[in-house]
Formats: sequence, C-alpha cells, structure tokens
Amino acid sequence: GTRIRFPRFGEHLASLSVPNHSLCLETRMNADSGLEASGKTLEAQVKAFFDSAPPLHNSNEITQNLNHFIQRNSSPLGRRIVCVTSGGTTAPLEQRCVRYVDNFSSGHRGATSTEYFLKAGYAVIFLYRRRSFQPFCRSLPDDPLLECFEPTNELNIQVCEAYSEAVQRAVVEHHSAVAGGLLLKLPFNTIFEYLQMLQLIALSMRSISSRAMFYLAAAVSDYYVPWKDMVEHKIQSGHLLDVKLVQVPKMLSMLRREWAPLAFCISFKLETDSNILLYKAGTALEKYKMHAVVANELSSRKEQVVVVTGAENIIVQRDKNQPDNDVEDPLIKLLSEKHAAYIQDSGPQV
Ligand code: PMT
Repeated sequence: GTRIRFPRFGEHLASLSVPNHSLCLETRMNADSGLEASGKTLEAQVKAFFDSAPPLHNSNEITQNLNHFIQRNSSPLGRRIVCVTSGGTTAPLEQRCVRYVDNFSSGHRGATSTEYFLKAGYAVIFLYRRRSFQPFCRSLPDDPLLECFEPTNELNIQVCEAYSEAVQRAVVEHHSAVAGGLLLKLPFNTIFEYLQMLQLIALSMRSISSRAMFYLAAAVSDYYVPWKDMVEHKIQSGHLLDVKLVQVPKMLSMLRREWAPLAFCISFKLETDSNILLYKAGTALEKYKMHAVVANELSSRKEQVVVVTGAENIIVQRDKNQPDNDVEDPLIKLLSEKHAAYIQDSGPQV
C-alpha cells in the first residue's frame, strides 16, 4: 500500500498510487521545487519543462497532419475548429516506464463533447489519452471486439443482435467524421507528450485566429519527475521510494499569452468539495484569462456543470426527461453560441 508521511516544515507531501503494484512509496517535495518558491519566471519554468521532456518521435508527422486538417477546414469553408483534450495524463517514475502517477479522467466528457461539437458544425482535433473513452463508442461494451461479435461458422463473424444498432452507429458516424476530414485524433500517454502536442496544435491554430477554440477537459498532472532526474530501469519494489516531484507549470497562461492569443479558451475546474468549486473556477478564470471555466463536482459531473464567465455563472443541466440526454448537449450549444459571439466581436477574419 501507500505510506503517508507527515511533512516537515517547508515540505509538501504527495501520496501516489502505483497501479498494480504494492509498493511503499514516500515522496517529498521541497518547497524550493514548488513554482512559487522557485523564483523562476513562468517562461523559465516552461523552458525547463520542455528541455526535460523526451522529444516526440513523430512531431513532423503530427505537424503535417495538423496543417493539412486546418487548411482543409479553413478555406473556403471557414469552419470553426475546436481542440478537445480528454483523459488523464501520466507522470512516469522511470524512463523505461513501469510505474507512473495517473490523473483521474475516463475521457467520457471529452469523447461526448466531441460528438456534440461535430453536430454543431465544428471540425475537432481530439487530443486524448490512449485507451480512454472514444467518440461514438459510448454505447459499446468496454471490450467491443470480444463482446460485440459472434462467429457464424469457422470463417465468418457477425455483430451480435444486442449491439447491432450501437456498432452500426459507431462505425458509420466515426468513419464519416474521420474520412470526411472533420475529426483528427491524436493520442498521448504522458504529461510530456500531452503538453508538447498541445503546443503544436496551438501554434498551428494561430492561423485561424478567433475561429479556434480550446476545450481543455483533460485532467493534467500537477507534478512530474524531470526526465534527467528519472532512473532508467524499473524501480525495485520492497524499498522505500524517495521521488522528487517538480510542479508542472500551468500552461494555460502560455496558451493564452503566447501560443494562440486569439483563440477562444475554455478550461475545466474539478473539485470534490462543492463549497469551494465556484470560487476556484472564478480564480482560474481571472488568473489564466480564460473566456469561460466549466466548473464540475466529481459525483454530479454527468448531471450538472456551471459555466463561469466574467459576466455570469450559468448552470447547465442534463435534461432528465430524455433518457439518453447528456449534459454535454446543452453545454456545447451554449459554448458554441458564446464562441460565435466572440468571433463576431473579434472583427473580420484573417
Ligand atoms: O473524463 P471524465 O471521467 O468524464 O471526467 C471529466 C473531468 C471531471 C476530468 C473533466 O470534466 C474536468 O474537470 N477536467 C479538468 C480536471 C482538472 O485537471 O482540473 P485541474 O484543477 O487540475 O486543472 C484545471 C485546468 O488547468 C484544466 O483545464 C487543465 O487543462 C489545466 N492545467 C492543469 C494542470 C497543469 N499543470 N496545467 C494546466 O494547464
């Protein structure tokens, strides 16, 4: 199990869960490694993060795909494009990673929102955690290949009756979105991959200025082990583990200020204590200059969210009278309207 140690003065303590391993894990974060205490500017913290990150092995291919996707949806269509981030990032503890710190997010919010953005006429760049929920697959069982099909004889298979409608819908809608050039899917695992890819997307989206939207539903690591400080091989279990974690710089500021300053930016705020939720969302709105922050409480997140803007707090609820209705349906309608107003206020497009 995980051992919790009380912090000495000047230390923060984090307890980590290590999937599939019973390991005594003790982490100590010196106040010095915290961003506020480090005295470094945000730019210096961001540089340190990216310098420490193992480079993406396919960044040229990703950039080419992004440019092609954006170009295709821009002229002559002038379509709005949203980057939806989805799922949790991992922070590896070893370079040849066996163990990692994970962030809770099933990817349901991001996958469902992607479907509603497509319905609303957007092209979607879906930046998602591998093996998290996927658009159009919500009605399928967790292991679709094994459960959705049955053999008819030794050579042939067919879709089981119970899943035929869901499989038909998933295959047709997914195929038409991807083949129609409206959905670009980019997977990540680690915080290093996620933030490098987010930066590539943002820099590519600059060309469409206010028609770009960022919808940041991913649960992003707050702490990481810099690559150069990480052991190469699997940490041996049975030992007390002393890991120095460094705070991940909040990239929301970089996104707004440097990477895509004209894009419409929506971030999320997740809390388990509803008493502090709106306060924290309001603080994030101001601090990171977001256009809106979607506040959600863990246990009610599929029923209700609150959209916090500078002018008002708007409660958005799932329509309970319709059994298959999702809270993302009214949420995306609302954000799409706000984005349209923002584009109009921003003046003529480049
Ligand atoms: O996927 P589901 O199971 O459906 O759940 C959806 C959700 C609850 C995960 C989602 O609705 C949600 O709230 N996502 C954000 C959760 C989160 O990480 O909140 P946060 O308070 O840690 O971060 C707030 C914002 O800062 C996020 O938009 C994040 O992108 C950003 N961030 C966070 C850490 C960091 N180092 N840099 C960041 O930019």
